[in-house]
Amino acid sequence: MLSASDNELLTRVGAGTPMGSLLRQYWIPFLFSWEIEAGGAPTRVRLMGEDLVAFRDTHGAAGLVAERCAHRGASLYFGRNEDGGLACIYHGWKYDGSGRCMEMPSEPDASDFKDKVRIVSYPCVERGGIVWTFMGKPEGAPPPLPALEWLDLPEDHIVASKRVQPSNWLQAIEGEIDQSHVSFVHSRLELAKETRQGTGRGFVDRIRKLDRHPRFEVVETESGMCIGAGRNAPDGMEYWRVTQHLMPFHIMTGPYGEDPMRNWRAWIPIDDTNVFVIGLSFHPLRPFTGEEREQLATRSGVWTVSPEMRAPKTSAPFGAWRVRPGLDNDFFQDRALQKTELYSGITEFWAQDSAPQLTMGPIFDRTQEHLGTSDRGIIAVRRKLARTVRALAERGELPPEPSVPDVYRVRSDAMLLRPDQHWFEATTERRKVVAGSNPDCP
Ligand code: FES
Ligand SMILES: [Fe+2]
Repeated sequence: MLSASDNELLTRVGAGTPMGSLLRQYWIPFLFSWEIEAGGAPTRVRLMGEDLVAFRDTHGAAGLVAERCAHRGASLYFGRNEDGGLACIYHGWKYDGSGRCMEMPSEPDASDFKDKVRIVSYPCVERGGIVWTFMGKPEGAPPPLPALEWLDLPEDHIVASKRVQPSNWLQAIEGEIDQSHVSFVHSRLELAKETRQGTGRGFVDRIRKLDRHPRFEVVETESGMCIGAGRNAPDGMEYWRVTQHLMPFHIMTGPYGEDPMRNWRAWIPIDDTNVFVIGLSFHPLRPFTGEEREQLATRSGVWTVSPEMRAPKTSAPFGAWRVRPGLDNDFFQDRALQKTELYSGITEFWAQDSAPQLTMGPIFDRTQEHLGTSDRGIIAVRRKLARTVRALAERGELPPEPSVPDVYRVRSDAMLLRPDQHWFEATTERRKVVAGSNPDCP
């Protein structure tokens, strides 16, 4: 349970709020590079309550600027993208990617008014096929990007997607940390066929089904919280899945199988009551085959959506990434299927997460909850966030991670262990990013 004031502290993300100020100290991945073309249409972006437009200027540089023109507030989304800047269609005031007013053709030639006018802009860098921005205070250079493993991989090792969810960001992050829910909302009623031996999802599904109350242990690391969830496995072994919460919004959950593909995602607040997830699968050692790429892009997963479940594209912020299932259609829950096949009755994987998270309300009132032992990871991450927010808001202490990008060079994990082995120690080497290695994760 949280006090009402702590709930506000952790969930409000607008400019000037304590959490909003903290999140602005970290690089934010928000757009795929392919979403903006040089000299092409801008796209609306809303990040932590700020309305912005992203565009790629005619020289190929990505820019992120305030949506409203400094003159009389018309939207630059309709702007003309030409000659190194974005011109407002109302009176032609034109801005470059740094927000500088380049031209003011509605004023006399001799006027220097344009030199005094700027709009808000945030720096952009592109890595891993993604445009990142830094919305922190303008003093000084932004820190380097977090040194996530996949940022060093060629783009054909990566398949990525996005999805918008109309809820506060914190309940979405909490859903990721909570390994307990997979035994329920994501489960099938029939036990998987595989029994004693095996690797991959069928084996793991069975373990999750047979032991539905994992032991949670949490270890604070330099990058965030490392959360172990242990379950009884066949032959007296234990199955430990290790989730990495990397400050403030990155998540990596334990992969599956031999030479597994791995995953990463970030939950970025659009505003207080909307969040988007940008996520990807990657293979550290090889490119994905065409078939794998097709499957990964179209199969319903935590962040991937079946093509028929995408909502029609709109020009609203992230309007290409909305989904059809929602509260107004009960996520297409099938009550017959719920009796015969799926615990939730909801077929889309991501919707199995999204449905409970949206029914909690746009911003869940955490004064009303009753946390159990399975919520240890959630409690630890909230505490860390609250501590870090307060350190910045009350003492001006910047969070440490952004200036040490290598703390993000970690992996999540899953493995079978003997009861006398401790999961955190046993996975120490496996949680390190080692070029050319990819430990199996049964
Ligand atoms: S409102 Fe943009 S140029 Fe006038
Ligand atoms: Fe889930």
